[in-house]
Amino acid sequence: MGTSHRRFSSVRVVGMATMEEREKARFELQERIDAAKVQAERNRLGQFATPPKLASDIVAYAVSLLSPRLKIRFLEPGFGTGPFYSALLRQVPPSRIEGAVGYEIDPHYAGSAEHLWKGTPLRLYVADFTTTEPPKAEASKYNLVVCNPPYVRHHHLSQIKKRELQSSIARYLNFEMNGLGGLYTYFMVLSQAWMAKEGVGAWLIPSEFMDVNYGHRVKEFLMKRVTLSRIHRFDPNDVQFGDALVSSAVVFFKNSPPPSEHEVEFTFGGMLTRPTVSDSIRLADLHHISKWTGLPQGISRLVGKHNGVTLADLFTVKRGLATGCNAFFILTTEQVRQFNLPKKFLKPILPSPRYLETDEIDADENGEPQIQNRRYLLSCDLPENEVKEKYPVLWRYLERGLEAGIDKRYLCQHREPWYSQEERPPAPFLCTYMGRPTHRSKSPFRFILNHSKATTANVYLLLYPKPDLAASLSDHPELYRKVWKTLASIAAETLMEEGRVYGGGLHKLEPKELANVPADSVLRVFSDGGKFRMRRQMDLFA
Ligand SMILES: C[S@@+](CC[C@H](N)C(=O)[O-])C[C@H]1O[C@@H](n2cnc3c(N)ncnc32)[C@H](O)[C@@H]1O
Repeated sequence: MGTSHRRFSSVRVVGMATMEEREKARFELQERIDAAKVQAERNRLGQFATPPKLASDIVAYAVSLLSPRLKIRFLEPGFGTGPFYSALLRQVPPSRIEGAVGYEIDPHYAGSAEHLWKGTPLRLYVADFTTTEPPKAEASKYNLVVCNPPYVRHHHLSQIKKRELQSSIARYLNFEMNGLGGLYTYFMVLSQAWMAKEGVGAWLIPSEFMDVNYGHRVKEFLMKRVTLSRIHRFDPNDVQFGDALVSSAVVFFKNSPPPSEHEVEFTFGGMLTRPTVSDSIRLADLHHISKWTGLPQGISRLVGKHNGVTLADLFTVKRGLATGCNAFFILTTEQVRQFNLPKKFLKPILPSPRYLETDEIDADENGEPQIQNRRYLLSCDLPENEVKEKYPVLWRYLERGLEAGIDKRYLCQHREPWYSQEERPPAPFLCTYMGRPTHRSKSPFRFILNHSKATTANVYLLLYPKPDLAASLSDHPELYRKVWKTLASIAAETLMEEGRVYGGGLHKLEPKELANVPADSVLRVFSDGGKFRMRRQMDLFA
């Protein structure tokens, strides 16, 4: 099989009934090959098959974006067994298919697929799509490209491969990619070089690019180089691929510059054909929105939000401390007793959220949290000699750490002495850093009111009131609980829009993301009762 590009000639396609049978055979073949492969190999080549119903929905929608009389020149890079090709054969009359091409790097899939699709217009190349030269002539290019590209993360790509991918994109498209993108980002961008003008691209890809930094270039591509028609994001709680923990999106675009006043459709949840939420946003507004997973639910809020107050105006948000080894530096009450460690080197620290049974932490007369699972952070700034001499019991415990190589861990190595800890004063308001919505709570995040002097590890974010707010709280301590209740009543969607979401519905919030959350409701706690002194309120917005 060669990889030269021929102009398409008319083809003979077998009848519809046969196509249904072939789809059945294809699905069985897919299952057989997948089962025969070890997971490691499937991960290396990003081999996760598209569920048949989803493949059909994607192809139907993509075809609907083409002008109905246009003959189809179809391309499926990363062909596998060809679920999109199969859907195409079942959905459009044979006379409409001018040609169809697949690229598949893995001979296991390619060999079987070739056999399966014999007698259909398919030309399948066993080749690396990313190193194959795209067609030059417009007539040899493709007007329908449908793909579920390999999901191979960037750190599994060699430096040489990355440079090769970047230089292909620079050469064919004069576009620069971010080196941290997974293989799928290169597949999608590179495909433009294969597309006929006004051709349609449909891509089933991880939705990660919508939020993370490396996705910035991909979004630039989608907003500037092509006309982005629609992005559908599946509900991450409804993982599309049982065996790949990624949340997925389908991106549809046309190979043409975006018209002025263009609007992009964002849909979310349910099925591609029947999403639970849908809304359109002007491309001009989309340019100002950095996190696309907040769409479509938050379009109106995000577009109009620029002047609002955010948590950053009221709080300094910090991540809790990173100990370098929680198992060694964070001790239970029993361990403190067992090792008889000197009290002056132990600070109360909260257990991880799953062991924290309450969202309001009271303190005893010493400021210690009144909770079930008490923990203590070991922290000492004295040099080793002094510890050895003055605190032999502590030194014996530290020796255990030395034996276990804890002093050689990255964070410990960069601290002087290795058993000292970052300064993280207790904060009155805390937010858990990651979580999943549960049947008990729609929000993956918990806000905690901390009356104690316990600090926290990095499984929490700490909200320190800024000076004006701190002064008002100290004038009116009764407002602590009101502020906490108001924080806790921030809609789950609002927090989730700011954060990032991982496969299986795991949500995370970085300090900056939490700081970005609108906070007008918190401010109202003060202004409602005239509690926020006028001068301070003015300062806040100065
Ligand atoms: C996510 S799977 C999708 C397979 C099929 N299209 C589907 O939707 O079920 C990606 C496919 O791309 C293939 N692949 C990986 N790297 C490739 C490359 N550089 N060129 C062509 N195919 C590649 C894998 O072997 C795998 O079959």
